Amino acid sequence: MSKTIKFSLCSVLIILCSSFLVLKNKTLIFDYPEYWPKPHYDFSKLSMSENEFQLGRQLFYDPILSKDQSISCASCHLQATGFTHVDHDLSHGIEGRIGRRNSMALMNLAWNTSFMWDGGVNHIELQALAPISSKNEMDSSLKEVVDKLNTSRKYKSLFYNSYQDSLVTGQKTLLALTQFIVMLNSYNSKYDKFIRNEDIDIFTQQEKNGLIIFKKNCASCHTEPLFTNNEFHNNGLKLDPYIKDYGRMQITNNPEDSLKFKVPTLRNIQFTPPYMHDGRFETLKAVITHYSSGISHSTTLSERLKNNLDLTHKEKVDLLVFLRTLTDTDFLFNNRFSYPYIN
Ligand code: HEC
Ligand code: HEC
Repeated sequence: MSKTIKFSLCSVLIILCSSFLVLKNKTLIFDYPEYWPKPHYDFSKLSMSENEFQLGRQLFYDPILSKDQSISCASCHLQATGFTHVDHDLSHGIEGRIGRRNSMALMNLAWNTSFMWDGGVNHIELQALAPISSKNEMDSSLKEVVDKLNTSRKYKSLFYNSYQDSLVTGQKTLLALTQFIVMLNSYNSKYDKFIRNEDIDIFTQQEKNGLIIFKKNCASCHTEPLFTNNEFHNNGLKLDPYIKDYGRMQITNNPEDSLKFKVPTLRNIQFTPPYMHDGRFETLKAVITHYSSGISHSTTLSERLKNNLDLTHKEKVDLLVFLRTLTDTDFLFNNRFSYPYIN
């Protein structure tokens, strides 16, 4: 083989390899419909790179984040159910320890102005600290997690690929987790296709009626397009005498916040039972019955719910049928968000 051929083969290989690396660490685009509001989150600390996303994905699915290597974020946040758990009301942590609240569905988090049912966490980059250090969840600490990750060859190399430095730190760990969870966006439900006029006939008459009932009774809090207004409200649930969860008041110490909880998104709601902060309702039917005729009156009850909605049977069914149009199977079965099989 002549020198020139060898040389050009070599350069082709180098170009191929480097473009593969560039490809592997391609820049991520944070995509969302142009008619949505701008995200609340400031993306400046994230690298928005594929490698950081994949590192975050590994961490999200890895029980190494818990004290005894038994619980991962995904144990309580399962993709097929909108990244929440559905088999029990209150979340289960290590050694079967039971928490005080129902796990939350994770989606469109960049628009959240606060996190948790009571808004106790105000920044997405700090969110992971809560479950990692909570006694009833992962019962570990960021330091313990970082020490473990620093002994793992796999993670040293994943951190190197993301940050050009194999040293694992707490900040990088939190940012990588953020890079993964902030990409969990859902905007391709039947409802979205209807709103975008992608298919004029996609909504049945019943679904259209349901949307009208929804706009009238629910959208002031579950505001489109994110199906939350990010506020805290008392939606008429009786205090559970055993759990005694006063919600937002526990954070602000203000009695006016008693029994107020964050308005959750309703996207993919069909797949995220049980419902409410303590998972007290098993079905959407039970939720609608609550709003229609089961509101418990107390001083902090939202003005908007002071009068019973008294929906007719037909209105309840139409509303239920509408809520099901918020299911986004592109999101629930998106391979990019699933368990990472590479090692
Ligand atoms: C043992 C179950 C459990 C584990 C493990 C867990 N979570 Fe959660 N998650 C919950 C519960 C319960 C809530 C609501 C807590 C509250 O309101 O006090 C929640 C809330 C959240 C929220 C807030 C969502 C919102 O809209 O406000 C995010 C984000 C989140 N978890 C991400 C994570 C990440 C990342 C991990 C892994 C580091 C993780 N969770 C591990 C149960 C869990
Ligand atoms: C005054 C504001 C407000 C109005 C109006 C309202 N909601 Fe809610 N909704 C909330 C709050 C706050 C929560 C969380 C309460 C909790 O867990 O303690 C909630 C929770 C829910 C949940 C459970 C979500 C989950 O992830 O567990 C569903 C479903 C729901 N609402 C549907 C509706 C429907 C349908 C209507 C109209 C009939 C409606 N809401 C009207 C504030 C409101």
